Amino acid sequence: MADAYTAFIGEAFAGEPLNHVMVQAFADLVGQAGGGPVADVGCGPGHVTAYLRERGVDAFGVDLSPQLVAAARAANPGIRFDVGDMGALSVSPGSLAGVVANYSLIHTPPDVLPTTLAELSRVLAPGGYILTAFQALDGNDATAEPFDHKVSPAWRYSPDHVIDLLGQTGLQEVARLVIAPAEDPVRGFPQAHLLARKTRD
Ligand SMILES: C[S@@+](CC[C@H](N)C(=O)[O-])C[C@H]1O[C@@H](n2cnc3c(N)ncnc32)[C@H](O)[C@@H]1O
Repeated sequence: MADAYTAFIGEAFAGEPLNHVMVQAFADLVGQAGGGPVADVGCGPGHVTAYLRERGVDAFGVDLSPQLVAAARAANPGIRFDVGDMGALSVSPGSLAGVVANYSLIHTPPDVLPTTLAELSRVLAPGGYILTAFQALDGNDATAEPFDHKVSPAWRYSPDHVIDLLGQTGLQEVARLVIAPAEDPVRGFPQAHLLARKTRD
C-alpha cells in the first residue's frame, strides 16, 4: 500500500488546516525552546517531516517500512529518512528537541503502547516536546479499541489514556485539539492531536 498511501496523503495533509495547526504550533515551540533535532516517527512518505523542515525545524524521519522510507527519500531529496522501529530508536537518550508521531501510534497494540511512549520520552531532552495525532475514542469508557484499517491492525485510543501514559514517562500535557467526529466522513471518529512537554526523567 506504500505507493497508494504516498499518492494521496501529502495533499490530504496540506489541504486540511486542522491537521497541521498543531504541527505548526509544535514547530514554533521547538524553535522558541532553542531548537535541536526532531524525529518524525512513523513518518510514512515524509510530508510532515518536510513541513517541519520548511518551518525551520531540524527534522528527520524514521519508519518501519523500507518501501515508505524509499518513497520519502524520493519525494524529499536532501532530508534524512531512516528505517527503524519507534519502539527501539537508534538515538541517544535526551538528544532530541522533539518527537512527532502523526497517526503512527495507531499501529502500536495497547499492551505495547506504554513501552513505546517510554522510548519516545527516553530520546527527548528536558523541555522537549512530543506531538501525536491519532483516531480517538469518544469519552473514557474504554482506553483502546481496534478498528478496521486497510494496511495493518490499528487501535484508537482515549486521549486521556495517552496523556496518562505520557505522564508516567515524565511528560506533561501542554495542549490538545480534538476534531469533532462529524468532520471524519469515512468512519466518524474524533481525531486527537496531543502536545506534551518533558518535565522530568
Ligand atoms: C497511518 S501511517 C502515518 C504516516 C505519516 N506519519 C502520516 O502522517 O501520514 C502509519 C505509519 O507508521 C509506520 N509505523 C507503524 N509502526 C511503526 C513502528 N513501530 N516504528 C516506526 N514506524 C511505524 C507505518 O509504517 C506507517 O508509515
